[in-house]
Amino acid sequence: MKALLLVGGKGTRLRPLTLKTPKPVVPIFDRPFLAYQLEALAQISEIDEVILSLNYQPDRIEESLKAGESFPFKIRYVVEPAPLGTAGAVRYAKQFIDGSILVCNGDVLAQLDLADLLDKHRQQNARATIVLTEIDNPAAYGLVETDLEGNVKCFLEKPEPGHIASNTINAGIYVLESDTLDRIPENTNWSLERSFFPSLIKNKEKFQAYISNGYWIDIGTTEKYRKIHWDIMDRQFDAQPFHSSEMNTVVLNPSANISETAQFIGPCFIGENVTVGSGAKIGPYAVINRNCTIHEGAVLEHSIIWPHTEIGSRAVLRNLIIGHACKIENNIEPKEGTVIEDGSSIG
Ligand code: GDD
Ligand code: MG
Repeated sequence: MKALLLVGGKGTRLRPLTLKTPKPVVPIFDRPFLAYQLEALAQISEIDEVILSLNYQPDRIEESLKAGESFPFKIRYVVEPAPLGTAGAVRYAKQFIDGSILVCNGDVLAQLDLADLLDKHRQQNARATIVLTEIDNPAAYGLVETDLEGNVKCFLEKPEPGHIASNTINAGIYVLESDTLDRIPENTNWSLERSFFPSLIKNKEKFQAYISNGYWIDIGTTEKYRKIHWDIMDRQFDAQPFHSSEMNTVVLNPSANISETAQFIGPCFIGENVTVGSGAKIGPYAVINRNCTIHEGAVLEHSIIWPHTEIGSRAVLRNLIIGHACKIENNIEPKEGTVIEDGSSIG
């Protein structure tokens, strides 16, 4: 069986982080985001190939995955000539698809029993099954309404406030029968959410909902990008590098070079080859990626630092995200909440 990840979006709402790093491979701790999704797909032994549907910075995505871990399936990279939308992208990869296919948005993480999802799809003989999750404010998502038997009756993408009648939304995870894809025109920008799903409803095809109550997040904004780190640290989503750890754990890579007088308050993460100087105070909720240097007396909390960044002596960092290869000078306290672009020098 094949799975397809839609990973062609530009990640506009994650700028400036995504100017040089495409959204699917922004680091979550020290692994690209996609590694977490691929790990979830590895739950299902019958998946023997995962198709990555790409168009924005495809080479960077491929490089970043090839540099990391391996998975128990083949990864096929399919690059669209131009963005074809979520349905156009699936249609473009159709030559590699047969039977049932699992399709996922490339920016969501969910605690979900995928094998059970497939079982239910097959038991119901559905043409399509869509995972739904509940959320407080559905306006930024696809609103889905079902009947009492779980048949999808209405799909409204990015609903206007007056049209929000429930709080169940499209979680961006579907099982589709490949022959349903024939209706999608070739090489045309087409949307699963605005055209394909409404057409299943209109034609009265068996379109089933699968409600999930587990953890779910879409990392589309910098706020959510930050949140997923805190949620993994707080064990709300069970994943590496905090998998099965106690609350408030300090995860310290053995290659890190740490002064004896540096202080760590969990939860925090210190990656490969990080140097932490004397009297620095790290945490809670600090993520320091590989090859960063934190000089003496610096304070770092509720912040995420990407690789090769240097933090000056006594600098104070609160609620920041700092990109690759930045330099924060001594005694500086950047404004809380700032997201600092790769290669910046702040002094
Ligand atoms: N290959 C390809 N080509 N991928 C695309 C394209 C395209 O033209 N356009 C978007 N994608 C990918 C994005 O990379 C992302 O992984 C996924 O499709 C969804 O696009 P987003 O831009 O992130 O959409 P959204 O978050 O506003 O809404 C979608 O996700 C919500 C759940 O997070 C919709 O599916 C909503 O209905 C859903 O509720
Ligand atoms: Mg999204």
